[in-house]
Amino acid sequence: MKTNLHDDQKFAEYKHKYRERGTILTKMDDMTHPIDKNEIKELSLCCKEVEKEYVSIGDAGESNNLLVGRFMTDVDKPVIVENEYSHKVLEILSKEKTINFIKNILELECDIFIRRVQFNQIDKNCFVGYHLDTDSNPDYLAAGVIQLGKSYKGGHYRVYQKNGEYFDYISSYGDLILSNCTYPHEVTKVEEGERKSLVFFVSKNSGENRRKNKNV
Ligand SMILES: [Fe+2]
Repeated sequence: MKTNLHDDQKFAEYKHKYRERGTILTKMDDMTHPIDKNEIKELSLCCKEVEKEYVSIGDAGESNNLLVGRFMTDVDKPVIVENEYSHKVLEILSKEKTINFIKNILELECDIFIRRVQFNQIDKNCFVGYHLDTDSNPDYLAAGVIQLGKSYKGGHYRVYQKNGEYFDYISSYGDLILSNCTYPHEVTKVEEGERKSLVFFVSKNSGENRRKNKNV
């Protein structure tokens, strides 16, 4: 009974925050967090082992390198990347509890689909510049960001509001951020350690990526 009351209150709070600010952060220890600790550990292992590539993004003049490991890409349509880990990662993320958690926060009744999944590591002095996720795919509804870095400083997830103000989200190992893809955001410069996260995008559309400029 106590759990349900806690969950109901928490969800009411999350929905309100998501509606007002476009983003929520769920701590790993919170009872409403949809992914359990063992699964977080498994995701972490998959991210550690998967082959990675350096990706340079943006041109703001500072180090902006990302180390990326891919599990599902979405260039023309969602494609599972052939490696030992993709199916395990997708199996965990696609569990009913997680999908229902997202649908609940986004206040959706319809089916939603995971379209893209990747591991991002941001090293010291690097960052991710201001951008909109919908530039990659106009049908992205929300991004889920699971923090896998155990010790880092800086690297705040900064979400801009219509009035130009912003809110910062500082996540620890296992925490889940859910963020509306129509809000511009950035990850501020990592000051110490490495910020490691597993990022996935959900949409109502499971077909073709309807982005106009495929070179973006
Ligand atoms: Fe993003």
